[in-house]
Amino acid sequence: MQDDILVVDHVTNYYADNKLGIFSKPGRKQVLNDVSFAIHKDEFFGLVGESGCGKSTLAQAILGLIPFEGSIKIDGMEYAGTDRKMISSRIQAVFQDPMSSLDPRRTIGATMREPLIAHGIGSKQEQERSVREMLERVGLDAAYSDRYPRELSGGQRQRVCIGAALMLEPKLIVADEAVSALDVSVAAQILNLFRTIDAKSEFAMLFISHNLGIEYYLCDRIAVMYSGNIVEIGTADDIYKHPAHPYTKLLLSAIPDMEKHEENGSANEQATVGHDAGSRPNDVRKGPAPAGACCYYARCQKACDRCLRRQELARTVDRDNDEHFVSCCLQASLESV
Ligand SMILES: Nc1ncnc2c1ncn2[C@@H]1O[C@H](COP(=O)(O)OP(=O)(O)OP(=O)(O)O)[C@@H](O)[C@H]1O
Ligand SMILES: [Mg+2]
Repeated sequence: MQDDILVVDHVTNYYADNKLGIFSKPGRKQVLNDVSFAIHKDEFFGLVGESGCGKSTLAQAILGLIPFEGSIKIDGMEYAGTDRKMISSRIQAVFQDPMSSLDPRRTIGATMREPLIAHGIGSKQEQERSVREMLERVGLDAAYSDRYPRELSGGQRQRVCIGAALMLEPKLIVADEAVSALDVSVAAQILNLFRTIDAKSEFAMLFISHNLGIEYYLCDRIAVMYSGNIVEIGTADDIYKHPAHPYTKLLLSAIPDMEKHEENGSANEQATVGHDAGSRPNDVRKGPAPAGACCYYARCQKACDRCLRRQELARTVDRDNDEHFVSCCLQASLESV
């Protein structure tokens, strides 16, 4: 679609699995399983799922940091590998731990100028002016340019990382657990910063989090990932208020009702709600799904013979809503597209 800034098409990835058994050779471990979705221009797109389901692996593939099968397009440019310069001018990342993203020996100004230098943009004076302007846009005094990361608080450091990510005016920001390490009130301020800065710049965001409450607050649409598969995609309202996949329902069931129905709360309130999907909700059955079955088969209370086939993310939940898709034959309107 013309309005899509990122198109992820049938992406699968394998990590080397070096565990050696007596009879086994080193193998490969599949993490992402045929993942396809698109992020629209300027959209905030959430990705939620439990620890180890493959969220960061997907982020790394999008950032061109790991090899994958399938294809990814940013702003119409396709890549299947690691063309770092092309990718970094269009996609930038903000990670969980701002301290490890910043070089402790360099001033904030030097770190923020770095992408401009790497891409040969502007004279030294122009770069310094851009840094000062960006510091103010992310809510810091321009004088912070001369400071070192250790002289800043965690929240201020994350503001610097967001500013550094925006220096090249990327089309997409990948934020992987960008507020997870921050105190609730600081996290709320950073979420508000994302919202206000988005009103002034034009970028889309892939916002990865364990916390469905935060995604609901910040994102336009949300994808739910389970075991390397996207099992449901919809608007934030679709996912939060009308979940269709049993796994999404399970994630939501862990959020206390009072908080779940809080619709107009402040960022501060919203940042505190939501199930921490990092802790696995109760297992139904033990053991892996049979080969070729729905990825959720082993945990689903309603699994039946139809679920022994892979379930594609191609079913509309409601025939009047063309944005809400689920990979569950039991929950969908059974209208494949
Ligand atoms: N470099 C790697 N080599 C081998 N396996 C890896 C590597 N990185 C991640 N994995 C494995 O891939 C799976 C998915 O990991 P990933 O970090 O993508 O999960 P995640 O959803 O981001 O989890 P979390 O919420 O804890 O950050 C895990 O089983 C993990 O052990
Ligand atoms: Mg992760």
